[in-house]
Amino acid sequence: MSEPIITFDSVCKSFDIAGGDSLQVLDDISFSVGDGEFVAVLGPSGSGKSTLLNILSGLQNPTSGLLDAPSPDEIGFVFQRARLLPWRTVEQNLAITRAARAEGRRNPFQRDIADYLAAAGLSDYGGFYPAALSGGMQQRVSIARALATEPAMLLMDEPFSALDEMTARKQRAFLRDLWLKRRSTIVFVTHNVMEAISLATSVIVLSARPGRVLDHIAVDAEHPRSLTDPAVEAVYERVMGLLGVGERDRAAL
Ligand SMILES: Nc1ncnc2c1ncn2[C@@H]1O[C@H](COP(=O)(O)OP(=O)(O)O)[C@@H](O)[C@H]1O
Ligand SMILES: [Mg+2]
Repeated sequence: MSEPIITFDSVCKSFDIAGGDSLQVLDDISFSVGDGEFVAVLGPSGSGKSTLLNILSGLQNPTSGLLDAPSPDEIGFVFQRARLLPWRTVEQNLAITRAARAEGRRNPFQRDIADYLAAAGLSDYGGFYPAALSGGMQQRVSIARALATEPAMLLMDEPFSALDEMTARKQRAFLRDLWLKRRSTIVFVTHNVMEAISLATSVIVLSARPGRVLDHIAVDAEHPRSLTDPAVEAVYERVMGLLGVGERDRAAL
């Protein structure tokens, strides 16, 4: 692995809840991510995936354990919903976020906003308001907006799970091609097994709450990937085994 830019060392997280009780959400999380890696964090709902990203971005503190990661102003974040400003054009949405980030930066931005719009296939849409774009395009704007701040790492929390399956497939291919070109460091949270395996250089599998790392599996397969590739199939079998999905329960594929 290249030089790690993220290291979790025995991170635990509990929340204080009603009645003086505490809810443990993450248990003894240790892993590292190398510069330029695309890591998927895969786990069932409630396993603490969003909490893990919140800790990684400095939004929340671990209850115990150590963490080494880029500082909050070097991070780009993409959420399940695009969260664009509806009264601003696409280009203005990127510009406002960039301006907010420009202050604390040591180096000026390397590329123009137009480059990020072009990379997202949105060159013709800079002057459009978000409401005029499809859900998939809005999500691409939110990815372009995050990348335009030239972050040291990009955190993505189920960015395609609110899209219909055909749109989600196109957006996954778009993100894959973008990563192949740019090799940005990405931490991508999902509960979708095939999404994780089709995109990531490695997959961290979390247990049900409290989330523990069941395994961190490298996916050594060329893009574009296919389930018929034995390397991909081996990861798929391993993940399904870890998540307790038996062969008879996989019929939906
Ligand atoms: N601020 C909070 N206070 C109390 N409980 C929380 C808080 N944030 C998350 N939780 C609980 O922690 C668990 C994990 O949440 P989350 O990280 O959102 O899981 P995931 O993203 O994997 O679905 C859930 O049971 C959730 O209700
Ligand atoms: Mg979540």
